[in-house]
Amino acid sequence: MKTIIEPFRIKVVEPIKMTTWEERERAIFAADGNLFRLRAEDVMIDLLTDSGTSAMSAAQWAGIMIGDESYAGARSWERFEAAVRDLTGFKHVIPTHQGRAAERILFTLLCKPESIVPNNTHFDTTRANIEITGAEAVDVPVPEAREPGRVAPFKGNMDVEGLRRLLLGRGKGKVPVVMMTVTNNSGGGQPASLENLRQVRAVCDEAGVPLYLDACRFAENAWLIHEREQGQGGRTPKEIAQEMFSLADGCTMSAKKDGLANIGGFLCTNDDVLAREEKNLLILTEGFPTYGGLAGRDLEAIAVGLEEVLEEDYLRYRIASTAYVADRLDQRGVPVMKPSGGHAIYLDAKAFLPHVPPSQYPGQSLAIALYVHGGIRSCEIGSVMFGRPDPAGGPDTPAALELVRLAVPRRVYTQSHMDYVLEVVTEVFARRDELRGLRIVEQPPHLRHFTARFAPV
Ligand code: F0G
Repeated sequence: MKTIIEPFRIKVVEPIKMTTWEERERAIFAADGNLFRLRAEDVMIDLLTDSGTSAMSAAQWAGIMIGDESYAGARSWERFEAAVRDLTGFKHVIPTHQGRAAERILFTLLCKPESIVPNNTHFDTTRANIEITGAEAVDVPVPEAREPGRVAPFKGNMDVEGLRRLLLGRGKGKVPVVMMTVTNNSGGGQPASLENLRQVRAVCDEAGVPLYLDACRFAENAWLIHEREQGQGGRTPKEIAQEMFSLADGCTMSAKKDGLANIGGFLCTNDDVLAREEKNLLILTEGFPTYGGLAGRDLEAIAVGLEEVLEEDYLRYRIASTAYVADRLDQRGVPVMKPSGGHAIYLDAKAFLPHVPPSQYPGQSLAIALYVHGGIRSCEIGSVMFGRPDPAGGPDTPAALELVRLAVPRRVYTQSHMDYVLEVVTEVFARRDELRGLRIVEQPPHLRHFTARFAPV
């Protein structure tokens, strides 16, 4: 059979409020052009993020009911720790309330103002948690990562030679950790290969620097290795994921993605001394090391989710559902990031709206149009998120790419929802000449995309 069906039945439903063009125009005007400021009720298909938006399974809900809420040493903690250790093999498992809490603890302890932290591409919270310590976050992706239209199997790879030059040159003695984000979210949800991870490991060994995975989407990365890397097609996603983790010294993880949970995360390390310091910091702001800011029931849901996410039928359907949209948009001439990656469809707003310069935020303009036209909420990943404001009030330094991400929540939307998304994007593409640029009228000093206010140019 060619049709890949959703490998689940739906037994709980959440109604979607249908809205009109006029209602959506009013809503986005009231939100000052920032989709984070919309009421979720006013969104029909919410592709803002795949984070914390998964539908949990019956087994996860059953886990919620048997969660052990003891403060210390709970049964749910033991189950969680065993699941994380079985998957990652790391010696120390530290639960956190979400991914960025793990990042904050790790970088607070490892970074000094003169430190440099390389990554294939830092996600916004990773970059911000490094920069707030005074350290520098450097992206070292392979060159093809910056070419949205170019087809290559592992555009999430690290530029190994670039990393070596950095570690042995400008960064000598200054790099406390090398990060590798799998899949590379800011670079289009593209996977890194096992071969690349092994090469990065070798360079880290040469320089005597630990390697950590930002493992949010480890299962999707493992599946794309299974599909695309020579010699890996016969291995299970779990075996591949275990090898990915075995190449690292630790990881940060947001269980809101490939943990299939609505909240949660963890930090792992093989370093005994660091683990002790991490737990001390954890107690200060997150909680005791056997719950780390989570309820026992959350720990149960994550333990089950980490197993379900590696099921082959799930991963086959998951990756096919994003490819379904991306490939059809590509066939219709809509500029998309190619090939399609794991969790999202990325529209190339620079090519979609060539008449809107990066200084007028083409990605934001496109995201607003998708909302007004069809009630779809997407997320700009371009110069709003990663552009650098000029302290002297001049134009921003633009981001390398102007992308709009349509992130697909796990197990939430069906194929007909995806057909609707295809129709809306195609219609907006046909009317792209009508779209205009924007300016920012108000912004905070960090992570401005969450709260900035926009006005038409
Ligand atoms: N690292 C990556 C690669 C991420 O994509 C995210 C979150 C985080 C770290 C932080 O995890 O949200 O649990 O604190 N990404 C979400 C997104 C927010 O929409 O892509 P968190």
